[in-house]
Amino acid sequence: MSLTRRQFHQALLGSAALLSLPRIASAEATPALEARVARAQIAPPGYPDTEVWAYDGALPGPTLRVPQGERLARRFVNALPQPSSVHWHGIRIANAMDGVAGLTQEAVEPGAEFLYDFALPDAGTYWYHPHNRSWEQMARGLYGALIVEEAEGAPEVDLDEVLLIDDWRMTDTAEIAGGFGELHDWAHAGRIGNWITVNGDGAWTREVPSKTRMRLRLVNTANARIFELESQGLSGWVVALDGMPLETPEPLDGLTLAPAQRADLIVDVTAEDGGEALLLSLERDGGYAIASFPVRGVADSPERGAPTPLPPNPMAALGDLGTARRAELLMEGGAMGRMSGAMMDGRQVDMREMAAAGKVWAFNGMADMPETPLIEAARGETVRIAIANDTAWAHGMHLHGHHFRRVAEDGSLGPWRDTLLMERGETAEIAFVADNPGDWLLHCHMLEHSAGGMMTWLRVT
Ligand code: C2O
Ligand code: CU
Repeated sequence: MSLTRRQFHQALLGSAALLSLPRIASAEATPALEARVARAQIAPPGYPDTEVWAYDGALPGPTLRVPQGERLARRFVNALPQPSSVHWHGIRIANAMDGVAGLTQEAVEPGAEFLYDFALPDAGTYWYHPHNRSWEQMARGLYGALIVEEAEGAPEVDLDEVLLIDDWRMTDTAEIAGGFGELHDWAHAGRIGNWITVNGDGAWTREVPSKTRMRLRLVNTANARIFELESQGLSGWVVALDGMPLETPEPLDGLTLAPAQRADLIVDVTAEDGGEALLLSLERDGGYAIASFPVRGVADSPERGAPTPLPPNPMAALGDLGTARRAELLMEGGAMGRMSGAMMDGRQVDMREMAAAGKVWAFNGMADMPETPLIEAARGETVRIAIANDTAWAHGMHLHGHHFRRVAEDGSLGPWRDTLLMERGETAEIAFVADNPGDWLLHCHMLEHSAGGMMTWLRVT
């Protein structure tokens, strides 16, 4: 992020959110969330443990569970050797609490603190992570789940498991590999790793009786890897995406999870006593088990059939798409792209000069964070953004502070999401109600891509 200090102050003043800054007085009574250096056994048994950066020293960070409609308050304590911040991904949050260093707050210096205190309007599966040098800080292990429990109408399950799926780049002595700023990664798929964990464990296991009904909350916390998932010995439904309930649960039949995306599944263990149910990742031939459920015994659960939809969250319905405010976003650059240069610091530069400044991508011809928003909308307006991925790579586009729906060419609407996977060459249109005032990022969640130029912002007044 390259907002100057002056722009940073303007950005803050431009959003009414300052009014909701929490009072200092409550700080001491607020539980801490401390980011610090720690050690964790990520690598297979027989390897040493690994130095990681972790919230409360745990990998993943603590799972925060809060009832819908209540507030969450945490005193973020930065014990890292680098400035940091906490972004509460997918929460339709008050702007000043969004945790974007350089846009909604200044980065929290080592040894300093920041009080996060915000309401949780929507139930579902969310997560938190740093929003300052996130391409390094998340690769070192900083992330955790934020679960907002349904106020009523929670599905009946025997087990509710959060599975944070991560992709690490490790050395053969089980250290986190360096090279965070390598432009080769930035211009290609991002920092793709060589070791996959679930909840920080390369062989995550949970014993269950056959016929157990589980809610599995999957979160892709990887910097850049897109997971193609399959299951074995489980059958069920996808009931929510990116926290938001589907109007109709969809039978589970493979699942693509781009970085930052979530899926809530309701599945029954169909594997028999003595067998094993598996969650598989398909990047290796025949699939690779990332989570296993050894089956012991049989639950005497009743036959339950398809789950009813989760209760909807309080989303404003989209207004008339014909008269909606519109913007276009062209994504360019990267390896094998057609781009020859872009605007940086207000002047046109070539790829070589861009690369020297760590930029390899551009949004609408700009490789650094623009001074003016992509779009400025009045509160309550419906906004459409047509996005064209004119690159040779897939991107996971994330909008802060709002959920959107994809508008298909025939006008039909996709599910509410906060992160949209776009394949190479793909175009997509998204629509949302701009009902959350403030300045909000729109960026690729392949973290090397956003750092390398794929970042813009919008303003809701
Ligand atoms: Cu998950 Cu801009 O963030
Ligand atoms: Cu990208």
